[in-house]
Order: sequence, then C-alpha cells, then structure tokens
Amino acid sequence: MTSRPETSGTLPLTDLADMKRRRERIVMVTAYDYPSGSLADAAGVDIVLVGDSAAMTVLGYESTVPASMDEMVMLTRAAVRGAKRPLVVADMPFGSFQVSDEEAVRSAVRFVKEAGADAVKVEGAGPTVSRVLALVGAGIPVMGHIGLTPQSATMLGGFRAQGRTSARARQLLEDARTLEQAGCFSLVLEAVPAAVAARITEDLTIPTIGIGSGRDCDGQVLVYHDLLGLYQGKKPRFVKRYAELATEIRDAIERYAADVRSGAFPGDEHTYSIPDEELAAFLSGSKAESETEA
Ligand code: KIV
Repeated sequence: MTSRPETSGTLPLTDLADMKRRRERIVMVTAYDYPSGSLADAAGVDIVLVGDSAAMTVLGYESTVPASMDEMVMLTRAAVRGAKRPLVVADMPFGSFQVSDEEAVRSAVRFVKEAGADAVKVEGAGPTVSRVLALVGAGIPVMGHIGLTPQSATMLGGFRAQGRTSARARQLLEDARTLEQAGCFSLVLEAVPAAVAARITEDLTIPTIGIGSGRDCDGQVLVYHDLLGLYQGKKPRFVKRYAELATEIRDAIERYAADVRSGAFPGDEHTYSIPDEELAAFLSGSKAESETEA
C-alpha cells in the first residue's frame, strides 16, 4: 500500500478519480463505531464504509436485512467521530431506499445531517439507478454496489459469485456503465470473477472497489471483523485474515476472570490509598455512628 500523504481534513471525493488515473490503489475498510473508525483513520485508509454488514458483525443478526435506519445512523455517527480523515460512506440498509426515490433521499439526508456521513452506498442496479439519480440530484455523493449484493442474496440464489456466464458478465458491465452515468462516484464489485472485474474497471472512469473480485479493481475493501479475525461466522473465500483477535480477546477475558476468582486482581497497584490517620478517624467515627444507631 502506498500510504497517503499527511493532510488535514477529509479526503476529497475528486481525489479518488485522480488515484484511479494514477493507478494508486484505494484502501477501504468497514468500521462501525468510534474505536474502529479511529483505528482505521490512524492506519491511513482512504475510505471507511459503515457497512450494513454491521447487522451481522456488530448487532448479531443472521443477515444484513434486519439493519434499521436508526441502528445504522447511530453506528455511522460513532464511526464518523473516530474517522476524521477518511471519507466516510454510510450503507443504506434494506428498506431505506427500495420503496421510492423520495424515501431514498429522506434516508440519505439522515446519514448526512444526523450522522455526518460524506456519502452513501446503495446496492443493485435496475430500480436503484433512479435512486442514484435522485440522491445525486439532492447533492449526496453515491457509491454503487453490484455483483453479490447481500440485501438481495435470496434473489441471486444465495451468497455466490456473480457474472460467471458471458450474458451475466455483460449485464454487470451494462449495470456498471449505467450507474456511472447516473452519477455514482465509485462502485463496489463484490464476488465478481477477476477477469470480469478487470474489464469493468478498465471501462469505467470512476474507481471500482473490489471485494472478492481480484486485484485489478482500483481499490479493495474488507469487513473489519473479517480482516481482524473478530467474526466467528463462516469465512468467505475472499477474506484474508490479518489477525486472530477473537482468540486473543477471549483469552484475555478468561485470564481476567481467573484473576478475579483467585483474588489476584485487583492488585495494590490498581487500588487507591487513604492516609492512615484519615482511615483511623473514619473507622472510629463510623463505629461510633453504628453504636449510636444500635
Ligand atoms: O456491508 C458491507 O460491509 C459491504 C461491503 C462488504 C462492501 O457492503
């Protein structure tokens, strides 16, 4: 990774297109709260995505579908407090944009006004294109997302790679072009064959951000909990773990519990003292008090 130069303020959206032109890879990671947002910032990532993957990684739902606007706004607000320099993109949860353009704008305005997000992400093409036009028309930058779109995984036949026939690959290219024309500033390609993602990336002027879509995308994204080994669920093929934090955290909590049970924690160094004479006065005073009460 080429690290970004030290600058103050949020990464301007236009820098992303420049990065694509310079063939400088874009780094995106998900974050869902203050600590993950500030750690992603400190690590120098370009974009923080408050993904609706939070439904599974943070909120414990079985899929991304149940995530509500209120939950996503709260998580985005916390991530924004931590991620000062990266661009923060809020993921529009299922149900927040499917019904109408008006509903989509209303939901996205909440992310921008209440949570301080810089941009939003919407899944899909087809009817989503009209939403993108409405959002961009309202002045809200939009990241698209095609390929495996988890909110519609049932319609896609489950969590599987997309665009593996020439007809489907052509459809993905068409969708990508349409979303670019509608005004998306960037496009996530999820679980798309590497060669298809490379062709789409070459075709577009906006940057593509891949997840499970090969190395020729303009950038990459991983889910924070997958990258760090914090999520205990099934690991998709495209995830590379850079740490095994779940094991480390459980081990630390087990050692803490053992110390509490054995009396090894807290030690003297974790404890406050009181001067001897103050303690003596306190103890004699409190004894006299209990005798009076009795
Ligand atoms: O919700 C999410 O985390 C995402 C990324 C995997 C792109 O949409």
